Amino acid sequence: MTSQTKGTVLITGASSGIGAVYADRFAARGHDLILVARNQDRLNAIADRLTTRHGVKVTTLVADLTARDDLAKVEAVLKTDASITHLVNNAGFGSAAPLAQADVDEMEKMVAINVTAPLRLTYAAVPQFVARKQGTIINIASIVAIGPEVLNGVYGGTKSFVLAFSQSLRKELAGTGVRVQVVLPGATGTEFWDIAGLPASNLPKEWVMSAADLVDAALRGLDRGEFATVPSLADGAEFDAWEAARQTMLPHLSSAAVAERYRA
Ligand SMILES: NC(=O)c1ccc[n+]([C@@H]2O[C@H](COP(=O)([O-])OP(=O)(O)OC[C@H]3O[C@@H](n4cnc5c(N)ncnc54)[C@H](OP(=O)(O)O)[C@@H]3O)[C@@H](O)[C@H]2O)c1
Repeated sequence: MTSQTKGTVLITGASSGIGAVYADRFAARGHDLILVARNQDRLNAIADRLTTRHGVKVTTLVADLTARDDLAKVEAVLKTDASITHLVNNAGFGSAAPLAQADVDEMEKMVAINVTAPLRLTYAAVPQFVARKQGTIINIASIVAIGPEVLNGVYGGTKSFVLAFSQSLRKELAGTGVRVQVVLPGATGTEFWDIAGLPASNLPKEWVMSAADLVDAALRGLDRGEFATVPSLADGAEFDAWEAARQTMLPHLSSAAVAERYRA
């Protein structure tokens, strides 16, 4: 099978960490790639390596996804390149700073990269995928989507958005041939932690998964048709119980009648 028949995977934040491993793994599966990030040198080095090693076509697209014009360039590619079969919304950054020590402009930038970018790229990709009756969207959330109080609250909020958006997309896209997977990594050994202001070397070793293990587990989840993949959660039944509690509560959340406990 030629690389063309496997389809092209567009990966944001492919210049390092989790995104770079996704690039490697999808190239090894024979997919062509479009790699997006700001650092051209790093993207070029990855593209050269993967082209040589796997013989796939790798295109680099330098874009600051917090800048509207750059984001629009990536949206245009998703709208016009009919070879794209997968979108991996991975680019992002976090913070460990509490509100009193966090810079509000930096927090707004975090919302731009972690929320606005995947939102706009998904809006660009979905109509094309639906028209072609195939396509896969992989959204990289975080375990802080479940526990927003673990790190910086804005970071937790952005990842809760990614989870909620994915849950809604999954329902809306059912029966269209388009798949959605949301991945919730725990602490993963990447530059993320240096940028967040808390280098991973400060964390207990037994908490930190390698990016390679994280992506391999996430792809195993994808291959099994899983919607939400939490690679570090030993007992998957805990996630299922959380989801079941949500589904139990859902039909009871809206009512004309005030709940008994709030009546005068
Ligand atoms: N590491 C963890 O513990 C962990 C846990 C849960 C979730 N996650 C999530 O995993 C994803 C990947 O993070 P990582 O751990 O692999 O960290 P990373 O090594 O720092 O990678 C982040 C990637 O995003 C790109 N990026 C950052 N800002 C960008 C911008 N404005 N425009 C375009 N690209 C930008 C970076 O490339 P350039 O600098 O070249 O632009 C880089 O390729 C993030 O969404 C993160 O929130 C990480």
